[in-house]
Amino acid sequence: MNSYLFEAAKAAMAHAHAPYSNFAVGAAILAEDGRIYAGCNVENASFPEGWCAETSALGAMVTAGAKRIREVVVVGDGERLTTPCGGCRQRLAEFAGPETLVHACGPQGLRQTFRLGDLLPAAFEKGHLA
Ligand code: THU
Repeated sequence: MNSYLFEAAKAAMAHAHAPYSNFAVGAAILAEDGRIYAGCNVENASFPEGWCAETSALGAMVTAGAKRIREVVVVGDGERLTTPCGGCRQRLAEFAGPETLVHACGPQGLRQTFRLGDLLPAAFEKGHLA
């Protein structure tokens, strides 16, 4: 795991707006342009309007003009691993491949690395629309 990526995700986690779940998450994406894009979860008093850290990071990446993901770090605290939710797995898959690594981290560092293809098998993708 790229340690700059971990530090970026952790810094983003510190900015999480999570007053309802009290579950802060940070995510960072290393894109093929060599740059790092980070984001945090942003909750809302109207609960379904909140979104995940991975989605924030993806928004930053696409806004900057990058389109391909090299590696992803997600940082969350708690006993269980913070892995991307189903919706974020699908959003990540739009810009990554099955071999792309997703590192699930705690505040102290790496806990487990997954291939995106293992997190989202049989993904629905662009090719399905051809
Ligand atoms: N959350 C993320 O931001 N990313 C994940 O990988 C898992 C869940 C957020 C959504 C919500 O703000 C809070 O964590 C609790 O579900």
